[in-house]
Amino acid sequence: MLESKRILLGVCGSIACYKAVELASLLTKAGALVDVVMTPDATRFVGPITFQSITHRKVRHDLYEHWQGDDLGHVSLAEADLAIIAPASFNTIAKLAHGFSDNLLTATLLGSTAPLLIAPTGDRHMYAHPATTANLVTLRERGITIIEPESGRLASGHEGQGRLPEPATLLGHIRLALGRNGDLAGKRVLITAAGTKEPLDPVRYIGNRSSGKMGFALAQEALDRGASVTLISGPTALKPPIGAETVWVSTAAEMADAVLAAAPQADVLIMAAAVADYRPLTMSEQKIKKGEAQLTIHLARTTDILGALAERAADMPHLLRVGFAAETENLLANAADKLHRKQLHLIVANDAATSIGSDDSSITLLDASRSETLPILPKAETAGRIIDRIVALLQGTPRGSNDNST
Ligand code: CTP
Repeated sequence: MLESKRILLGVCGSIACYKAVELASLLTKAGALVDVVMTPDATRFVGPITFQSITHRKVRHDLYEHWQGDDLGHVSLAEADLAIIAPASFNTIAKLAHGFSDNLLTATLLGSTAPLLIAPTGDRHMYAHPATTANLVTLRERGITIIEPESGRLASGHEGQGRLPEPATLLGHIRLALGRNGDLAGKRVLITAAGTKEPLDPVRYIGNRSSGKMGFALAQEALDRGASVTLISGPTALKPPIGAETVWVSTAAEMADAVLAAAPQADVLIMAAAVADYRPLTMSEQKIKKGEAQLTIHLARTTDILGALAERAADMPHLLRVGFAAETENLLANAADKLHRKQLHLIVANDAATSIGSDDSSITLLDASRSETLPILPKAETAGRIIDRIVALLQGTPRGSNDNST
């Protein structure tokens, strides 16, 4: 989504400038054209050449640099797709709140209509000062996004709020802002991810190898296209994408409760989670001790969440239901059976042996009228193709290449 996007990265004087270097790198790697504009004070912390080496584009800090050819200095820079100031000093924040244009960054932003994100960074008391608070209120009221500073150890050694969030977090905010008017704008998408854990005793559980990567990639993709996303996830070390409302669950029963509560408000449900079909009938209150050579555990069926929703389909006629089928044999036949049995609008069939836990996947998309097999792709790209198909279903038109259609 960042390919060829023009991003204006404003950098103010702060020790956190080093994080801006990494942000410039992440944006450039993602294909964005990054124009770094530094305040004069920022150049005392990091040299322009550092940014230039990463972005391969001219780095600016001088308002009075001669305009050459088509390059009209701050006027040209202002025509970005999105602007972010990270780190943003309280001084620059005050200037922007009052319409100053006394350096290249403030002049550029005063003349820009691009969406603007500001990441205030610095001393905790300067951040908490009523003047800063008032300036941030003013900027928010103008529709500018303020990325809250994080709490922790500050450069001074004091603890407090004022840290610039990590570059990956800033990137998440940028994606969210760029995606706002995407083809899922106004849609509420509910996504489940990862596997559930069914406790046997206080220290053991029955689980599965699902990593959550596919569900999280789908959540990021839906956000990139402007959806409001609720992510219901089983335990995983993955960080939820910025902008997703995340509900953490552990067992199949908790996941069922969370999904059944959220589904009536959703336009789309994507069940990418690997939900346990059985749970131990009872959970031992104490750790199960080693005893006989064989141990028998009685299991009870869990709620089939998609099955329960199929039964309530008439109450939620607007809800587009998408399931996954991870199989080790008879992939397409099993997937087609689940599509029918769970009354789904779309099912994503994949080979459990190769896709679970992997960064790549090869899937077949099946709906009532057709099937389409995709090549092996990184999960982020696969997620894009799945969302393409969901958008098409929402619009009532079949879509996707027919190359592999059967
Ligand atoms: N699913 C669900 N509730 C469950 C189990 C699975 O909603 N208790 C969902 C999964 O999230 C997935 C789809 O149903 O989207 C298919 O899951 P899968 O485990 O492949 O199928 P099952 O219905 O469990 O059938 P089987 O185990 O026989 O393959």
